Amino acid sequence: MERLNLVSIERKKQKIMTKRALYTGSFDPMTNGHLDIITRASKMFDELVVGVIVNPNKNPLFTKDERVSMIEKITSDLPNVTVESFEGLLADYVNKNRFDAVVRGLRATSDFEYEIQMAQMNARLFNEGTESVFLMTSPEYSFISSSMMKEVVSLNGCVDGLVPEMILEKIKEKYTHKCNK
Ligand code: COA
Repeated sequence: MERLNLVSIERKKQKIMTKRALYTGSFDPMTNGHLDIITRASKMFDELVVGVIVNPNKNPLFTKDERVSMIEKITSDLPNVTVESFEGLLADYVNKNRFDAVVRGLRATSDFEYEIQMAQMNARLFNEGTESVFLMTSPEYSFISSSMMKEVVSLNGCVDGLVPEMILEKIKEKYTHKCNK
């Protein structure tokens, strides 16, 4: 009986202490800026889910399944990171899956305006206790965006070192790309 109690206390403790976070975005495609945030956030939380969103306002280069599969491969060395996809309201997904936090990366002060609005709206929509957590993007990646990567490659420019190697190959396949250095 006493042992059973100890086991259930231990389980409760584990449940209480397991912190799950969601890092969400379109990731079309994932860049080294995103990977930097994922790697750092994975050290802060017990579990990190990368949530690939289908954004109806964006016309993606990669399908949702392609994006999920690429991110899974690139993050395979991070044992507490998994990749999922979702549609609809972020807060619904967060509440349903009981995340403790939603991680966002801040690249520049221009991101702040949008992020504070979103965080304040989400604070009303999230279950009590769920927080938005912001990480400053490492300076070497602060100018990167997915659209810029696609535009540069589509015009035969080089983005080596700015996106993971596997992504670079996949974007080059989508365009008939010759890197002009
Ligand atoms: N490194 C590199 N690039 C980064 C980055 C980083 N650390 N952080 C952001 N970016 C880039 C992204 O690649 C993206 O580039 P793009 O516009 O060229 O594609 C751009 O910055 C914007 O990123 P983000 O703010 O993550 O936009 P998104 O469209 O990828 O995702 C959601 C936005 C998913 C968080 C938001 O639209 C959402 O939650 N949608 C669900 C609907 C909803 O709930 N709406 C109400 C919100 S209150």
